[in-house]
Amino acid sequence: MSKIIKGSCEATQSLKKLVDMVSNSNSTVLLRGETGCGKDIVARAIHESSKRKGKLVNVNCAAIPSELLESELFGHEKGSFTGADSKREGRFEISNQGTLFLDEIGDMPMSLQAKLLRAIETRTIQRVGGKDEIELDLRLICATHQNIEKKIDEGSFRADLFYRINVFPIEIPTLSERKNDIPELLDHILSEIKESGSKIPTFDESSLSALKEYIWPGNIRELRNVIERASIIFPNKLISAKNIRENLLRVNIPDSVEEKDTLWEMTSSLTEVDQHSKEDEKNIISVPHPSHYKKWFDVLDKIDLRRHLSEVELILIESSLKKTNGSVTEAAKSLKINRTTLIEKMKKYSIPKVGLD
Ligand SMILES: Nc1ncnc2c1ncn2[C@@H]1O[C@H](COP(=O)(O)OP(=O)(O)O)[C@@H](O)[C@H]1O
Ligand SMILES: [Mg+2]
Repeated sequence: MSKIIKGSCEATQSLKKLVDMVSNSNSTVLLRGETGCGKDIVARAIHESSKRKGKLVNVNCAAIPSELLESELFGHEKGSFTGADSKREGRFEISNQGTLFLDEIGDMPMSLQAKLLRAIETRTIQRVGGKDEIELDLRLICATHQNIEKKIDEGSFRADLFYRINVFPIEIPTLSERKNDIPELLDHILSEIKESGSKIPTFDESSLSALKEYIWPGNIRELRNVIERASIIFPNKLISAKNIRENLLRVNIPDSVEEKDTLWEMTSSLTEVDQHSKEDEKNIISVPHPSHYKKWFDVLDKIDLRRHLSEVELILIESSLKKTNGSVTEAAKSLKINRTTLIEKMKKYSIPKVGLD
């Protein structure tokens, strides 16, 4: 079974079976599936599992301007058009004894479709400007993400060409149809990133669930992009579901505001007490014990110590002033600091003096 195609869920196993079945034949294959679902990968898998000695030659029909496509596919003779300074082999010839992969076949211009049909039917080609019939040992794989039947109805794709290429159609599942492959795809993509010399992150259990929840309109290509982004933003770090949702799928770089929110979220959980406890209110709203801070580094990689301590200080000063109706003397007592120290700190944090003393 093909090792190139990663994944082992039911949909992927059926795909691999089809690839195995068709590789040994010379039939034309039509790969259909959404963008990013792995059409290129499947074409490569078919070629590599076949025993064909030639090369896999890829032509993206959508990427080559239509006026150049004919000579690109069929080659040309010297002087056949302005700029044809020398004879050139086309991709059909280069793929002789190998496999020709015509990607985005739905974008093949109408003007070329008849010539393509003839090449497939006769297994011979003529170079542009040439008279010789060149015989080829040809194997063709076509791919499209488009609805070709609709194109036929609209008159922009020849029905006879469609029947010629639709000998062995393979529908490639979307990533959301094979979500259980995500952990295996993740490992595979991470190992490739690691091999290229980059530092990789670790994905925790919650992050895997978050990846499975997402709908993946861009399929495996989008998954790969997310994983590459993760390696750039979180090298050597642990990635959680929150990171997936907030930093990777939405492309937000974690910033200091977010870090601050995280800190306060954690502080509030440190003082959380069982709702049914019979203890009085003073005990319920307890100050976090210093040892609680030790746990922070289980979750955080860094904390701005000075800024965080300042924020704690500011909140405690403001609260004590509120409680004493702005009396600096009373607030200083409740904070167990000198009155002058409190006044200095109020200046530092621009806290207005509203009370009398
Ligand atoms: N089954 C698979 N196993 C491993 N990688 C895959 C698989 N399918 C797709 N990929 C990766 O996903 C990306 C998109 O695949 P590609 O074949 O280019 O999609 P398509 O041609 O359908 O747009 C590529 O980076 C490819 O390596
Ligand atoms: Mg492709």
